[in-house]
Amino acid sequence: MSEIVLETEKLDKVYKLGGRSIRALSDINLKVERGDFVSIMGPSGSGKTTMLNILGCLDRPTSGKVILDGVDVTSVPEEELYKIRRYKVGFVFQTFNLLPYLSALENVELPMEGTGKSRGEMRKRARELLRLVGLAERENHKPLRLSAGEQQRVAIARALANDPSIVLADEPTGNLDAKTKYEIVRLLGKLNAEQGTTIVMVTHDGAMASHARRVLFLSDGKLLAKEKMGLLAKEKLACPACGREIQSDHAFCPHCGRKL
Ligand SMILES: Nc1ncnc2c1ncn2[C@@H]1O[C@H](COP(=O)(O)OP(=O)(O)OP(=O)(O)O)[C@@H](O)[C@H]1O
Ligand SMILES: [Mg+2]
Repeated sequence: MSEIVLETEKLDKVYKLGGRSIRALSDINLKVERGDFVSIMGPSGSGKTTMLNILGCLDRPTSGKVILDGVDVTSVPEEELYKIRRYKVGFVFQTFNLLPYLSALENVELPMEGTGKSRGEMRKRARELLRLVGLAERENHKPLRLSAGEQQRVAIARALANDPSIVLADEPTGNLDAKTKYEIVRLLGKLNAEQGTTIVMVTHDGAMASHARRVLFLSDGKLLAKEKMGLLAKEKLACPACGREIQSDHAFCPHCGRKL
């Protein structure tokens, strides 16, 4: 049975700036199931970063609720929110945000500091994660000695360090060249398909968005009713015998009869 990891109810965000009010989000109702990979597309200024920051408890809505793993995080006091950010959410940013004086391995270890893990456990987990993102050979490199794509891989490994309920990625391919951005979005797809990592990625790049399972659209702070299936959903929902589309709850392929 599907389980909802993240849900919003009537989310609104109004910024006050110099006596003016800017409505950045309006009546956002979103549901993300465990194991989903949702991309949210929208033009510049449509509210993508505002929404992701609120989903990840970096900012609070003006009104409405965010329910993460069954907890209404909008009513959690500020001084306890760090726990949710640390254990429940993994962030990936456009500009990677790695600490320049730490190695790849140390950057991945950082979110595990103070979580009760021993040095050895932290090192083991960080190594596993660097292997998972294809960077086992680069663990001692500092960010300046890594390519942009490699830096983003380290940032993705870091986001997974505390095994979060959800990974939130804000334009993770925005600073990458045409070839590297495909490698990064495919890595996110692989983590979703093979590790079951739940991901919400915002982007204004349709080619990147289409790699997810679902594509939602944000326009002027409103989530549009239309929704598209992404490549990952199509890959998942093809019958292995005849290749035609099937539903996840089908026991037999309705086209060729193969047992699924
Ligand atoms: N701290 C702030 N104070 C006032 N207005 C803000 C603030 N942050 C964002 N806004 C406004 O809210 C709206 C949504 O901004 P947001 O950064 O969420 O858009 P975005 O979709 O992420 O854009 P981009 O693709 O350029 O990153 C914009 O009109 C922006 O000017
Ligand atoms: Mg933005």
